[in-house]
Amino acid sequence: MLPIVANKTIFAMTDQDPPNHTFPQETPAKGDDAGVAGYASTQLRDELYAEPMPERGLFTFNEAVASVFPDMISRSVPGYPTVIAMTGVLAARHARPNTNIYDLGCSWGASLLSVAKEPACQNCQLIGIDNSEAMLSAARNHLAQLPEGKLITLQAGDIADLQLTNASVVIMNYTLQFVPIAQREAVLGRIRKALMPGDLMILSEKITLQDNELNRHLIELHHDFKRQQGYSDLEIAQKRDALENVLLPETREAHFDRLKRAGFSQCDVWFQCLNFASFIAIA
Ligand SMILES: C[S@@+](CC[C@H](N)C(=O)[O-])C[C@H]1O[C@@H](n2cnc3c(N)ncnc32)[C@H](O)[C@@H]1O
Repeated sequence: MLPIVANKTIFAMTDQDPPNHTFPQETPAKGDDAGVAGYASTQLRDELYAEPMPERGLFTFNEAVASVFPDMISRSVPGYPTVIAMTGVLAARHARPNTNIYDLGCSWGASLLSVAKEPACQNCQLIGIDNSEAMLSAARNHLAQLPEGKLITLQAGDIADLQLTNASVVIMNYTLQFVPIAQREAVLGRIRKALMPGDLMILSEKITLQDNELNRHLIELHHDFKRQQGYSDLEIAQKRDALENVLLPETREAHFDRLKRAGFSQCDVWFQCLNFASFIAIA
């Protein structure tokens, strides 16, 4: 975790300086011999941005991205294994029998695999929704190889026009950031309506900080994290360009305000590593 201290030496660091720190190895998901969400058994390495690209293409969740997604997200999002492992733990405290637990933007189903390990969640319907057919196809293959996979139902759908019903937990890990900002409040409003008072939403996002200098500092540390995970400067730069105007991060405060306007009674950040935060919101 980042020590948030007003230290002039830290703030003076630039992209040219070699990182002088080593990020800790992250703990794999509880009881999961194959690492987070069984991902250790998947082989494909993300090298999608390794060669110079003459034209900047917008990032999409196409077949190429879907095929390397476990490696991509594990090496790009600091704190990802912790968030995934804890998603099941948090969900278990709020799961009500015979209700739906939704994972919106489920990708390969990592969050629901964590939920499926929890006995308290096993009397619920676990429903993963995604609008990328390539991602759903990869998820079907992955879940078919894991015992918990049979507890999970996958559906094609767009978060912007979903009808959610009878939910006790809604998970949205690293997905709202891809929804146009103008649509986000309506999405959260529909999620809130599907929940009863006391129910849970888990929302994980890349965030920006209000303080520009500190924000830049966290971005540089995130790039150091990616270098340590084996990404080159070219890969980091090309991926950043592809994500510009596609992944739109907001501040913690913007998320708090919107969650309140959408009708959640309480919300806070339960975990943050660099510029990636995970919010808990109670209906
Ligand atoms: C960064 S990934 C989410 C990772 C996943 N939740 C996890 O923790 O492993 C974002 C996912 O959201 C999906 N997605 C993006 N926009 C969407 C939308 N409007 N409706 C449904 N799914 C969407 C993408 O296809 C992708 O699979």
